[in-house]
Amino acid sequence: MGENSFDISIIEAGSHVGKTVTISGWVRHLRSSGSIYFIELRDGTGVMQCVVVKGEVPDESFQRCAQLKIEASLLVKGVVREERRAPGGYELGVTSLDIVQIPVEDFPISKKEHGVDYLMENRHLWLRSSRQLAILRVRDELIWLLRSYFHKNGYILIDTPILTGSIGESAGNLFETDYFDYGKAYLAQTGQLYLEAACMALKKVFCLGPTFRAEKSKTRRHLTEFWMLEAEVAFYDSERNMELQEDMICDVVSGVVTNCEQELRFLKRDLAPLKKISPPFPRLSYDEAVELLREKKYDIEWGSDIGGDEETAISESFEKPVFIYNYPRRIKAFYMKPSPHNAQTVLNDDLIAPEGYGEIIGGSQRNDDYESLLGRIEEEGLDSESYRWYLDLRKFGSVPHSGFGLGIERLLAWVCSIPHVREAIPFARLLNRLYP
Ligand code: 4AD
Ligand code: MG
Repeated sequence: MGENSFDISIIEAGSHVGKTVTISGWVRHLRSSGSIYFIELRDGTGVMQCVVVKGEVPDESFQRCAQLKIEASLLVKGVVREERRAPGGYELGVTSLDIVQIPVEDFPISKKEHGVDYLMENRHLWLRSSRQLAILRVRDELIWLLRSYFHKNGYILIDTPILTGSIGESAGNLFETDYFDYGKAYLAQTGQLYLEAACMALKKVFCLGPTFRAEKSKTRRHLTEFWMLEAEVAFYDSERNMELQEDMICDVVSGVVTNCEQELRFLKRDLAPLKKISPPFPRLSYDEAVELLREKKYDIEWGSDIGGDEETAISESFEKPVFIYNYPRRIKAFYMKPSPHNAQTVLNDDLIAPEGYGEIIGGSQRNDDYESLLGRIEEEGLDSESYRWYLDLRKFGSVPHSGFGLGIERLLAWVCSIPHVREAIPFARLLNRLYP
C-alpha cells in the first residue's frame, strides 16, 4: 500500500494537499448512500473524512465497505483535498483501502448517553472517545510542562522508591505487602522523605511518580493511586516554598492554555478564569480561614481540619488559587516544622484551586531539629527505628528545607474542568475499582 504515497498522521494532512498519502486508523463514524461511503477515520492525532466512491476504488474493496462497522481498523490510500465542511478541514479521496479488522461485535460505546459506571467498566474502550482523547493530551502536556519547569530551573529529577519501609505520611491509609525478612513493606504515600535526603546532596530536586493511599473515601477528589509531582529545596523556608509553588502553577497553567487551547475549547473549558492565574496568590493563615468560614456560616472549631466543602467555600471568595498556611500541628504530618511564633501550628501551606477544585498542593518547611523530630515521631506512635536514616539528615549539616507535593489529577481536573478525578487518569484506581 505504501508505494508512491506518504504514510502520514491525520494532523499532518494540511501539508499534503493534492498529494497521495496513506493513513491508518479506526472508523469513528460511517455514512453511505449506495454508491459512496463517507468514513470518518480517527488516528489519535485527528479525524479525517475518507470518501470512497464506487468506480474510484477496486470493486472488491468497495464491496467490502458494506461490512464496515464503528471501530473497524483500516489503512486507506488517497488524495488529500481541502474540504471546509469536513472535520479538520481536509478529506481524503480514497483510491484504495485495506480493512485490517472488522469488529466482532457492535462497539459497546455509542453516541447515546451511558452512565458513568458503565463507562468506567469499559474504560479500555471509553479512552477512544474524543473527550477522553482531549483530556489525555492535556495530561501529557501538563506533565511535560511541569518536568520542563523544573529542568529549566536547575532541579534534578530523583526517582524515589515505591516499596518503602518508613511510613511517609500517616499510618492511616497504607497499602501493605509482604517483604521477605523485613515483614511488611508499604506502597509509597509520598517520595518526600527520600527527596529530603537528596536535597542535602543536590539542593534542588523533584520527583514525579505514582503514590498510593488506601483511601476509604468516595469523593470526586480521591484516588487510591495518583501521580504526584514533589519538589524539595535545601535552605528554602516556608515563604520561599510558597513563592516556588506560585511560580510553578502560573508557568504551567499559562503554558497549557497556550499549547492546548484546542483541546480545552473542545472540553468547553472557559479559558477566562485560567488566563487570570498570575502572581501573587492570596494567602490566608489557618486562623483567617477559620474566620472566613465562620462568616460563611460554617460551624468550624479551631483545630479541626478544613474539609472539601470548606475548601470549596473558601475558593468561592477568590479568582486565583489561595494559600492557607500555618495549620494546627495536630491535624498535619509529623515532619512539619513547628512555627516559632506558635508551637501549636506548623510552617505548612495547602494550595486551594479556584472554582471548587479543592486542595491541589500540600507543602511545608520540614522539621530540621533532631530532638524535636524524634519527639514527633514517637508522639505519632511511629517506629523510630525505621526513621533512623531520615533522622540522620538532622545530624549531618542539617539546614532549613522545604518542599511540596502537587496532585497531577487534581491539577488536571481543575485545568480541564472535569467534575471527578477518575477521568483525569487513564486507568483510575478507586475504592470500588481495580479493573480495567
Ligand atoms: O497533602 P499531601 O498528602 O502531601 C504529601 O504527600 C507531602 N508529602 C507532599 C510533599 O510535601 N512532598 O498530598 C499532596 C497532594 C494533595 O494536595 C493532592 O493534590 C494530592 O497530593 N492528593 C491526592 N490526589 C488524589 N487522590 C488522593 N487520594 C490524594 N491525596 C493527596
Ligand atoms: Mg494535604
